[in-house]
Amino acid sequence: MCGIFGASAVDNVIPQLMTGLGDLEYRGYDSAGLGALKNGRIVRRRAQGPLASLAQLLETEPLSAGTAIGHTRWATHGEPRRHNAHPHATARVAVVHNGIVENHAELRAELEAKGAQFRSDTDSEVVAWLLDRELAGGAPPLRALRRVLPRLRGSYALGIVCAGYDERVFAARRGSPLAVARAGRAAWLASDAEALGRVAHEMVLLEDGQLAELRPGKVRVFEESLQEIEPCWRRIETSGGVLDRGQHATFTHKEIYEQPEILEQALAEFRADLAAGRAARWCGPLWRAKRIVAVACGTSYYAAQTARTWLERVAQIPVDLELGSEFQTRQPILAEGTVALLVSQSGETADTLAALRYLRSREVPTVALVNVHASTMAMEADAVLSCRAGREVGVASTKAFTAQLFALAAASIAIRKLRGNASPTELDELLATLSRVPDAVRGAIELEDSCASVGRKLAKAQQVIYLGRGASYPLALEGALKLKELSYVHAEGFAAGELKHGPLALIERGTPVIVVAPSDATFNKTLSNVREVIARGGEPVLVGDPHTASIAKRDGLPCIATPAIDSLWAPLVMAVPLQMLAYHAACEGDRDVDRPRNLAKSVTVE
Ligand code: F6R
Repeated sequence: MCGIFGASAVDNVIPQLMTGLGDLEYRGYDSAGLGALKNGRIVRRRAQGPLASLAQLLETEPLSAGTAIGHTRWATHGEPRRHNAHPHATARVAVVHNGIVENHAELRAELEAKGAQFRSDTDSEVVAWLLDRELAGGAPPLRALRRVLPRLRGSYALGIVCAGYDERVFAARRGSPLAVARAGRAAWLASDAEALGRVAHEMVLLEDGQLAELRPGKVRVFEESLQEIEPCWRRIETSGGVLDRGQHATFTHKEIYEQPEILEQALAEFRADLAAGRAARWCGPLWRAKRIVAVACGTSYYAAQTARTWLERVAQIPVDLELGSEFQTRQPILAEGTVALLVSQSGETADTLAALRYLRSREVPTVALVNVHASTMAMEADAVLSCRAGREVGVASTKAFTAQLFALAAASIAIRKLRGNASPTELDELLATLSRVPDAVRGAIELEDSCASVGRKLAKAQQVIYLGRGASYPLALEGALKLKELSYVHAEGFAAGELKHGPLALIERGTPVIVVAPSDATFNKTLSNVREVIARGGEPVLVGDPHTASIAKRDGLPCIATPAIDSLWAPLVMAVPLQMLAYHAACEGDRDVDRPRNLAKSVTVE
């Protein structure tokens, strides 16, 4: 989390830095700041709140500089207030940091004992003071960094300017992503490669332990030993999706609406690849797995949990599911023949990334399903699968979730084909039913008005319960997560069958209960759970298909019914009304839908 953007150029770079920080604001929006070199001295502008507050400050206190670093913050250590905004600076050095310095307390105590006067509550300020001490002792910046970096425990992507070193920006990376680029008479750095796409065509994704020095039009890359290395330049690939809300009130709304086309496009590619004998493009080495261990966090975890049904039923491979944040702690037994599947929209989530590295250290083949291709996971995994959602700006994952589901549904069919244990008719049938998904999703989007009217009621609830069985259980969890994060209404998802084992105690008169109940083999059992809810005064709303709607009508229950779809692929379609319920609950509560409080899109700290 936190976004870093910096530049060394001949001309004023502040406007580009502000645009770049805008592109990185998905990483955090608690505060923003700039640090620049003006006549050899460090000048800062910092503001609490989103980037707009910094932009406002620049109107009254303008800044123009060719060498500058900028930051948009997601608070870890220290409240989201101005004094904690980056850059942190002394008279000699200014630092922007993404990551966590785990041993900051010891370092701070040591530095304070030597006279350092800290002005923030952050872990990051120790980096500024450590560098300051080295620079004061006469070390030039790169040598100062070489001495300081080994003292930091934890993770960092750093952008640094030093007084007296005009036209130079220094950078270092361990554990948090950082890319550098050059173009014309400028050199740039940013937390994600895509943000550099506006100012350059080529970039270097720094590897852990590498440092860089930027000068106008020039980038030098070093190992931690300061041995200079030949950088590995790559073209900046943007995942598409212009940063424009179009007719939509929010990016999240636009992204919900993009789903039918994304799925249609992915389906067309999948069909073409299957026909051309390129099934392996959709599953990588997963098809040879005796067992799959799927690791992910948050919504991506629910995508993996949903897809477990497909990987087991269609691909016929047993799947173990692991939360990224628990994986290393658990150190699960990895059976011979296991292939790991890491699912991540950003490709940067620290917990999932740590799991990937652990798996690689155990020589387990790794496959990363990512949406951002210029990401650390894409770089480090043995094979990469694409989720093809295009850039997702809304912090809450919507289109990336259904695109992940599609990619995993396609992977299951591709595996089945490659293993040769399905007849052509079976494969045709699977493909034919999957092909109906984009239209059904289009139909689901048309349900917006009914979702809005239920969503508005949810906004006023104390708590909302979500229920689902089988493949609908992870959707219940995802629906509850979406409601929590977008509307801040407390919501919990449960396996419908677990209700009577405890959660039923939560149901009071009027408690809204969203029941994901497409007409599959579990339908009647779920319906019994609905009756248990009604008997306790709860108010169920069914989310299902036309059959669900007919039963709901018979029983006088409210229902949001999507077009009919084969029950195997129903989660791809049922996800949409759940997103819209949460979206409209959030709008009713006047929430910042694209940027829910306390969250960031790319979670690069453990
Ligand atoms: C929720 C959401 C998060 C992410 C999670 C993992 O809407 O977006 O729960 O799914 O932080 O992020 P990625 O997929 O980037 O690894």
